[in-house]
Amino acid sequence: MKLPQQVNVLLLGSGGREHAFAWKISQSERVAKLYIAPGNAGTAGCGINVDIAPTNFAGIKQFVLSSNINLVVVGPEEPLVKGIHDFFAGDPEIRYIPVVGPSVDGARLEGSKQFAKDFMTRNNIPTAAYKSFSKENIGEAEEFMRKLKPPYVLKANGLAAGKGVLIIDDFNTALEELGAMINGKFGAAGSKVVIEEYLSGIEVSVFVATDGTNYKILPEAKDYKRIGDGDTGLNTGGMGAVSPVPFADEAFMQKVEERIIKPTIDGLKKENITYKGFIFIGLMNVGGDPYVIEYNVRMGDPETEVVLPRIKSDIIELFEGIVYDTLKDKELVIAPETAVTVMTVSGGYPGDYQKGMVIEGLADTGDESIVFHAGTALKGKEVVTAGGRVISVTSLAGSIKDAAAASYRTIGKFSFEGMNYRKDIGKDLIKIVNAAARKSAASSTKKSTTKSAKSSSEK
Ligand code: AMP
Ligand code: GLY
Repeated sequence: MKLPQQVNVLLLGSGGREHAFAWKISQSERVAKLYIAPGNAGTAGCGINVDIAPTNFAGIKQFVLSSNINLVVVGPEEPLVKGIHDFFAGDPEIRYIPVVGPSVDGARLEGSKQFAKDFMTRNNIPTAAYKSFSKENIGEAEEFMRKLKPPYVLKANGLAAGKGVLIIDDFNTALEELGAMINGKFGAAGSKVVIEEYLSGIEVSVFVATDGTNYKILPEAKDYKRIGDGDTGLNTGGMGAVSPVPFADEAFMQKVEERIIKPTIDGLKKENITYKGFIFIGLMNVGGDPYVIEYNVRMGDPETEVVLPRIKSDIIELFEGIVYDTLKDKELVIAPETAVTVMTVSGGYPGDYQKGMVIEGLADTGDESIVFHAGTALKGKEVVTAGGRVISVTSLAGSIKDAAAASYRTIGKFSFEGMNYRKDIGKDLIKIVNAAARKSAASSTKKSTTKSAKSSSEK
C-alpha cells in the first residue's frame, strides 16, 4: 500500500520537536496541507495550527474526517500511551488513516518502566540489574539494595514527565525516598518503583524508525539534561543536543545494532506488538559497551532538533515506509555535518516560571541557524513565551565548535525577560574529540619513530 501522492498531514504536539517535524514535513513535495494540533507560534509558519489537544481523540477524529487527513504523526508520548494508534485502528470510520506511532502495547516500553525492564530481560537486551517494588514487597527492598553499590537509582514506574528518576548516594535516604514514592510522591506513576544498578559512563540517544519488521537507524544525538553548565543543577526536559556523537563510532554503533536494536525489533514482533513509529533508546556507554537506560516511544526533544536537520531524504517517504511496512524500500540520506541545538528557557525553569514574556528580535535572526519554537504562542502580532523551554536554535557546520558558535551568535539576536540557556553545549564532546586526536597523533608519531628507528637500523 501507498499513501496518495499528495497528502494532508495532521501532526500532534506543540514543542520544539513538533516544530522540527513541521519544518521537515513542510519541505516535502508530497505534502498538500499540514495541520498541527495544537502547535506553537513556530509551527504556524509551516502549516495551520488547530486548537485540539493531542489527547482529545474524539476531537481529532472529527478533524481528520472533516479535513481529509491522510496521515497522522504523533509527537509526544501521552496520546500513544493513552492508545491513539488503537483508537484509529479500532474505528471503522478512520481505520484507513495510518498513524505514525506505536500501539498501546508498544507504548508500554515508555509508559511502564517495569514492562520495559522485563521486555529487555526476556529479549536478552543489556540493561542495569533491577527489581520492582510496590506496597506488597517493599519489605524486600532493603535486602535487594544491599546487593547494589551506591548510588541507588529509583524510578517511578509510570509516566512522570521526566521527573520520576532519583539518584541517591545514601542508603537510608534512598530507602526513605522509596517509601515516599510508593506512598504517592509522584502520584500513581510511583505506586510501583523500579530500583536499579547505577551505570557509570556517557549517555547517547539512538533513534530508530520501524515498520515492525524493518528498521532504519536515524542519526544519534547527545542530550544535555541538567539546567546548569557543567551538568549541574536540576534535571530538565533537555537544554541542548549534538549530533553526531563522536564516541558513537562505527564499532560502538555496530554493538548497538546487534545487541540492542535487532533484539528490540525482533522482540516486539515475537510478542505480537504492533509498532509503527519511532523508538528512542537512551543508552549508557559503559567502557565501550552499550546498556539501555530507557526506551521512549517517540522522538526526543531537543534531539529531534538536531536529528531531522541532518536527514536529507524526504520524510513523507519515511512515514510511508513506517505505516505500510515498506521501510526496506526507502532511502534514508544523512548529512555528514554536525548539528548543535541550544535551548533557551524561561527564568526559573525547571522550577516555577512566568509565561507571556514578549520575545524580541525574532524577525532578525538571519539564516545562519534554524530557530525552532518550543513553548511559544502568538498574542496578536507578538510572539510570547508559553512554556519552560522556549526556543531551540540549531546550526549545522563542519565541527561541533563551529555549529555551537553559530547557534550562540543567533541566540544573541533575540531575547525575552528572564531568558536563560546553557553556555557549554558540546564542550564536553569537543574535549573528547581533542583527546582522541592527541592520542592518535601520539600513536602515529610513536609508530613513525619506531619505523624510522627500524629502517635506520636496517640501513
Ligand atoms: P530516565 O528518565 O530513565 O531517562 O532517567 C533520567 C536520567 O537518569 C538518565 O538520563 C540518566 O542520566 C540517569 N539514569 C537513569 N538510569 C540510570 C542508571 N541505571 N545508571 C545511571 N544513571 C541513570
Ligand atoms: N530529551 C529527552 C527526551 O525527549 O526525553
